[in-house]
Amino acid sequence: MRLDTWRLELKTAFMSKVLTAIQPSGILHIGNYIGAIEPAVESQRDNELRMFVVDYHAITVPQKPEELRKNILTATATYLACGIDPKKTLLFQQSQVPQHTELAWILNCTARMGELERMTQFKDKTRVRGETTTVGLFDYPILMAADILLYDTAIVPVGEDQKQHVELARDLAIRFNRDFGETFVVPQPKIREVGARIMGLDDPTKKMSKSASSPKNYLSLLDDPETIRKKIMSAVTDNEGKVAFDETRPGISNLVTIFSIITKQTPEQIELDYIGKGYGDFKKDLAEALTLFLLPLQAKIKTYLEHEDELIKILNAGSTRAREEAEKKMEVVRKRVGVCLNQD
Ligand code: AMP
Ligand code: TRP
Repeated sequence: MRLDTWRLELKTAFMSKVLTAIQPSGILHIGNYIGAIEPAVESQRDNELRMFVVDYHAITVPQKPEELRKNILTATATYLACGIDPKKTLLFQQSQVPQHTELAWILNCTARMGELERMTQFKDKTRVRGETTTVGLFDYPILMAADILLYDTAIVPVGEDQKQHVELARDLAIRFNRDFGETFVVPQPKIREVGARIMGLDDPTKKMSKSASSPKNYLSLLDDPETIRKKIMSAVTDNEGKVAFDETRPGISNLVTIFSIITKQTPEQIELDYIGKGYGDFKKDLAEALTLFLLPLQAKIKTYLEHEDELIKILNAGSTRAREEAEKKMEVVRKRVGVCLNQD
């Protein structure tokens, strides 16, 4: 065997199956980038990555159809602009692979009400939505479990808030394997040590969220330089005036975290650089670093969006491959459950 063939085989044997997804619900913010997109792009080099737009998750809360369509394209353009390479990575659209909802139904019939009632995100969203909470919102973690289990996923890079959902996927895989025979790989969440939970700029005690009531809470990947400057300069810190990464000071620690990831420096290095300087200098540099980081990204997103047909072609090609792969798993699942009459 030639040495390079042997090397490739060895690499493939150690490659893990990694999978992650983001909802196309309008704004993608710097927390999404740091918590989910960057770790996925990083993992693309040495692993088998699947990354998709979860449009059926997005409709668990009301969406305007024309906006949803635009958001699916923007999310895809953002993935590509951030470095997802469709030649290496299976990039697709969830709703184009009906096996996801099919498996979700089967898993629905194994999951317990109590398991879903315990989900923190559901409890938070119910508090906001009250009587208008949909059944889809309750069931959302089961669809996410189906997303993960269909593809023999080993690793799921997500932000801290999704850990509980990945743990549910693990529990459902273990239960199914026990009751129906070995079928699913039991996945692991992968949560980055620094940056798994980027906090709101206007309230650093709560996570940055696109559904926050004020746009000052988040930094959108599409914000222009003036908006970036305003949001960072008005970000909530404290009265100590010392730039530090310190858990007891969530505001400044959050800004140091963002700076550290965007400029690829350690928080300690940043602390040293700002000894004797105030928050004003630090925030100005952070706004500048974010602008330098986001402007080229925005230009790439714009170019992708100008070629809508190309984007649709990429998604369709990925979805076709995903359907083939997912169908293989569903054939096994249907047999295990007993609904497949053809036994060969
Ligand atoms: P969502 O915006 O809820 O669709 O989240 C998409 C991905 O971004 C998930 O992996 C989340 O865990 C991650 N994420 C969302 N908000 C944050 C945040 N504030 N900090 C870090 N990761 C986040
Ligand atoms: N629920 C995730 C979120 O809101 C998105 C998601 C759906 C996901 N399916 C997934 C993430 C599968 C990772 C793997 O962030």
